[in-house]
Amino acid sequence: MKRSGYCNEIREHLLGQQVTLFGWVNSRRDHGGVIFIDLRDRSGLVQVVFNPERQPEVHRQAHGLRNEYVLLVRGEVVLRPAETENPKLATGKIEILVDHLQLLNTAQQLPFQLDEEGVGEATRLQYRFLDLRRLEMQRNLQFRHRVMQTTRRTLDEAGFLEIETPMLTRSTPEGARDYLVPSRVNPGQFYALPQSPQLFKQLLMIAGYDRYFQIARCFRDEDLRADRQPEFTQIDLEMSFVEAEDVMALAESVMAAIFQEAVGSALPLPIPRLTYKEAMARYGLDAPDLRNPLQLVDLTEAMRHTAFSVFAQAVKQEGSRGERGMVKALRLPGGAQLTRKQIDEYTEFVKIYGAKGLAWIKLNGPWQEDGWQSPIVKFFTDAEKEAIRSATAAEVGDILFFGADRASIVNESLGRLRVKLGKDLQLLQGNPFSFVWVTEFPLLDWDNESRRHVAVHHPFTAPMVEDRGELERPGMEERFLDEVRSQAYDLVLNGTEIGGGSIRIHDPQLQARMLGLLGIAAEEAEEKFGFLLRALDYGAPPHGGLAFGLDRLVAILLGVESIRDVIAFPKTQKAGCLLTQAPSYVDALQLRELYLRTTQVQKKE
Ligand code: AMO
Ligand code: AMP
Repeated sequence: MKRSGYCNEIREHLLGQQVTLFGWVNSRRDHGGVIFIDLRDRSGLVQVVFNPERQPEVHRQAHGLRNEYVLLVRGEVVLRPAETENPKLATGKIEILVDHLQLLNTAQQLPFQLDEEGVGEATRLQYRFLDLRRLEMQRNLQFRHRVMQTTRRTLDEAGFLEIETPMLTRSTPEGARDYLVPSRVNPGQFYALPQSPQLFKQLLMIAGYDRYFQIARCFRDEDLRADRQPEFTQIDLEMSFVEAEDVMALAESVMAAIFQEAVGSALPLPIPRLTYKEAMARYGLDAPDLRNPLQLVDLTEAMRHTAFSVFAQAVKQEGSRGERGMVKALRLPGGAQLTRKQIDEYTEFVKIYGAKGLAWIKLNGPWQEDGWQSPIVKFFTDAEKEAIRSATAAEVGDILFFGADRASIVNESLGRLRVKLGKDLQLLQGNPFSFVWVTEFPLLDWDNESRRHVAVHHPFTAPMVEDRGELERPGMEERFLDEVRSQAYDLVLNGTEIGGGSIRIHDPQLQARMLGLLGIAAEEAEEKFGFLLRALDYGAPPHGGLAFGLDRLVAILLGVESIRDVIAFPKTQKAGCLLTQAPSYVDALQLRELYLRTTQVQKKE
């Protein structure tokens, strides 16, 4: 029998007609005689009715139906009696009087009810095939599908070619650990799963493909959080003969198309921009949520000679490699209401990020009238108090928080505090979706552990043209390297980095210099990315691109907390799949074939 459509499509326009539907029993109500079933498929629900007077035999059959049984029903579409309409359901005005029922399959008692609230995530992941039946998950994955199709259509129309790149490949340096795959036919050798298609997309530009995209799976063995998965998906693209402006404009047009399709409204363009420096100064973090009205204020100069030694010492200190000390304030309007306990909790919170304390001033009145309540205010001169007040624009009723330390600690601790206050006190305002570009990232970052520079974006990112001279000046002081800016840009949505990219180096000498600065010796560079360095020698066009994190983008647009809720089969915090029980031990023979021996053996239960 041919299906008339999906459950959710059965509406008033079909009144009086016979329809055939397939689906699952979502719920069953027996109203002394008449049996009602909510039939569910991927589209939603429709009510089907078994009436003993209409079809006694079919009604008798319906007695045996249980949740999640799989059915074929055929019947007539009728209006529900007025008082039984269900306004919450798209199909709530109609129901189907069943004349024919076929039981296609039965189901066991479920480990949880699909409409149950608060089912543990472990259970949901273990029975993912049931969890995915829930209408919320159906909605999430269908939304994700639409975002992907809109992306494909938009990029196709803009002249981009969808080209696949290998999964079994060499290490691509994006800063995480690799997942390795042993090669059976090359004893002792390993492939790496790609952390991104970065090197291949650059090779495609060198090969003249001009505009490439891919909805690409990436693999990174890193510590997991709610917005990180060991395998995740990028909307990855690359373009030739472009500057940063061109890539950002293209990215904005993709985002606008997604927004229109997914959210149903126009995305105001252009997306606002901040330089990395401005972002750090005002928000302390490089992925600020601009819906949060709080901002950091630099008080370093005002506090340089203060009698409060915590601040004066902080300003005086020089961290390693010339990192300066600073004092910053965060003003919370109305915050004089906070209790001592809340302040203590926020003090503990900033300590997670290395802060030694969290000085504060409550403005219960003007300082001239001794209205400032604080353990530290006694140290300040009138001029200092006035400087604090005017710089922060603090008013009576506010609280000021202070951080004093090396710049990186002050920025991170107050930056995180700003985010936490925004959440705790529900300060977010304005458009529910706040996009911002962060540009002019530093090219290099000093890694104290390995005592060398690492690339902030990746080693193929070009320096800003104005700063390139710095990079090539022979005998330049190492610490000035920290000041060199790159042509890298991140797209931030609601305080999460949802995309990033850069203009690449296409000059082989500059690429070699860059690898040198990263402490990658010539032989190592040759061994790791010799193929790319060689390709740069054969007419590489200027090029650049970007990648969006599809999972993060979809999760934020849907307003769900974790990217696990927009991935069909995600992994846990321990990078495991509870459904398939991967990863797993393998038998000795399989290891031997791969020329592997492990130091961890399976514990016999
Ligand atoms: P990047 O490393 O910034 O850039 O990655 C691009 C985007 O991918 C998302 N992302 C992740 N999402 C889920 N789980 C993860 N573990 C994860 N890691 C990253 C983020 C991020 O913004 N090749 C470059 C792009 C380029 O230069 O063109 C790259 O991979 O949203
Ligand atoms: P103390 O002089 O250590 O009693 O500190 C006085 C106040 O300054 C307390 O509220 C501390 O939390 C705060 N404080 C201490 N060290 C710092 C710091 N490095 N940055 C900001 N506040 C601090």
